[in-house]
Amino acid sequence: MPYVSSRRRAPTKPLVEIPQTLSEITGPSWGARDVVKGACDLTAQHSGSPLGPRIVVSGRVLDEDGRPQPNMLVEVWQANAAGRYLHRNDQHNAPLDPNFTGEGHTLTDEQGRYRFVTIRPGEYAWGNHHNAWRPAHIHFSLFGPAFATRLVTQMYFPGDPLLAFDPIFNCTADERARNRLISQFDWDTTVPCEALGYHFDIILRGREATPMEDGHDHGR
Ligand SMILES: [Fe+2]
Repeated sequence: MPYVSSRRRAPTKPLVEIPQTLSEITGPSWGARDVVKGACDLTAQHSGSPLGPRIVVSGRVLDEDGRPQPNMLVEVWQANAAGRYLHRNDQHNAPLDPNFTGEGHTLTDEQGRYRFVTIRPGEYAWGNHHNAWRPAHIHFSLFGPAFATRLVTQMYFPGDPLLAFDPIFNCTADERARNRLISQFDWDTTVPCEALGYHFDIILRGREATPMEDGHDHGR
């Protein structure tokens, strides 16, 4: 079953090229002032701890030659452990978690590294077709040195049985490219008695590029 929204959202007319102006090409430049302290820990944004298995998601942002990309604004959003987003469009009957907003951000360091502490998101049902379920995933947005350099993608978890059936994951026709969207379990970043570690490198361009979404159109 294909991703139904692709049909609805695909352009019906030729694309109109809009020239980029100075403000889009040169800015903004992100710095420490743009980052809320603690925004990289999605388990510590409320008075209590959110429900669900704690995880650490980390990796590097690299260009096609493996060069680290510092000062990239990395934003994430995700469902809670029950598979529900804190969003008015998500009204399905899984419970909200008062201790989980499901949003975070951080800047990459000089080695291009980022790190989030969060909980493993739940799978959720969606309306694409009968009995459609999305595999567990975390949405990622990356801003480079300009507004024109935003990329959006999703990270998945290894061994998820729903991946084979997911129209969004399978939008990427090339199997090797598709599999780059799956994070790897990582002992090195697993925190004893605290959280499993998952590693997810994001490659911006080139043959090994991480597949990206063309538009930022689904909060789900
Ligand atoms: Fe989602």
